Amino acid sequence: MAETITIIDDRTGKKVTVPLRDGVFPSSALRELDPDLRMYDPAFLSTAACESSITYIDGEAGILRYRGYPIEQLAEKSTYLEVAYLLLNGELPTSSELEKWNYDVIHHTMIHENMRKRFVDGFHYDAHPMGMFVSAVAALGTFYPESKDIFNPGSLEKQILRLIAKVPTLAAMCYRFSSGLPFVSPNNSMSYPENFLNMMFRLGDDHTVDPRLTKAMDLLFMLHADHEQNCGTTAMRVVASSHADPYSAMSAASSALYGPLHGGANEAAINMLTEIGSIDNVEAFVKSVKAGHGKLQGFGHRVYKNYDPRAAIIKKAAYDVFDVTGKNPLLDIALKLEDVALSDDYFISRKLYPNVDFYSGLIYQALGFPIEMFTVLFAIPRTVGWLSHFSELLKDDAQKISRPRQWYTGVDKRDYLAINKRQ
Ligand code: ACO
Repeated sequence: MAETITIIDDRTGKKVTVPLRDGVFPSSALRELDPDLRMYDPAFLSTAACESSITYIDGEAGILRYRGYPIEQLAEKSTYLEVAYLLLNGELPTSSELEKWNYDVIHHTMIHENMRKRFVDGFHYDAHPMGMFVSAVAALGTFYPESKDIFNPGSLEKQILRLIAKVPTLAAMCYRFSSGLPFVSPNNSMSYPENFLNMMFRLGDDHTVDPRLTKAMDLLFMLHADHEQNCGTTAMRVVASSHADPYSAMSAASSALYGPLHGGANEAAINMLTEIGSIDNVEAFVKSVKAGHGKLQGFGHRVYKNYDPRAAIIKKAAYDVFDVTGKNPLLDIALKLEDVALSDDYFISRKLYPNVDFYSGLIYQALGFPIEMFTVLFAIPRTVGWLSHFSELLKDDAQKISRPRQWYTGVDKRDYLAINKRQ
């Protein structure tokens, strides 16, 4: 039997019955009842702003799938670039498609010299790498005027390829600048994650990247590739809805990611663990959080009311990295903190579990990344998620320019008062 929902306007007795599909009903039902009706939904808690076939999350069950494939299977068997292809195209590539895709990405990693000499070199010496990244992504678009032609499929495809290929180069450039190190050019003989680690950390000719660390980097990229309508992706879609170019939209999405409640939480989580300092201080710290002094960074999620599946995978992978780098001393504090929180009624009743940011920082730190780079490390792989949503939105006939309505609660009309008459 088809499911429906009936909404009655008690003021008039008028009722409207509309279909309910997957628990979603169209807001046109409200407009049918009364075109001036508004639903008050701050932070979009109950609003599905689009149809999407990219990523599926069941927050209660702790399930995450890209294009139907469970994240656990992709994490075990795939690579970031294969996952990127999947997210963008909807299907896993054949071996020839994958070979071409890998080749194309690797051969678009170079960045125009002026980007470094004129733009990146212009930042203040202690600029935050994420602040640099956000502006550099927007600036990169000015090198490709054709990027404004978003309804030309060939041009859009080229910008998508460019962005995915160039963000690691841009990120490494921002890091090397803020560390006063010479820029390392991309190396076409290396894989995507290896090339990134090389551009980040190369100090001399004998520099090599341990393949186990490359694998961990690739895994982290896969896990961060998309996460449906989060704050950053919503920013991407809202800007895209005005038909801005993908670089400008991605700069907005990166800005949203920068915030400590979103992608900035991995940085905040490491700062928190450092501040706790010892496992002996964990219980007192948790007590202070319960008393309202701050939050457990890397805990809680708008959608997951269960263990974030990405956190579970990262927690396991951390040990492989620590085999190479030595254990991050903050790991024991993190494990104890998780243990204490998950047996405490405050966290149990609110369904607060570790999210992706709780353990990722420990690996990033062990790999040698400074804390300020953590959110940039999130932005690199999320590029493909943002761009997949950009493309999906442009093909969606139901979409228009994003323009939510408001509930005006300010003062009613009043007349202008001359300055000498004001109290
Ligand atoms: N530590 C302690 N208490 C928390 C935490 C936390 N990390 N997160 C939520 N709570 C409490 C809230 O105080 C609230 O309690 P109350 O009901 O007594 O008022 C309750 O749990 C519900 O929390 P909300 O803030 O309503 O949840 P919301 O869905 O709005 O926020 C968010 C989700 C922003 C992720 C929140 O859990 C948080 O701030 N976590 C810490 C920052 C973080 O880790 N962000 C990364 C998220 S994942 C990502 O973006 C990649």
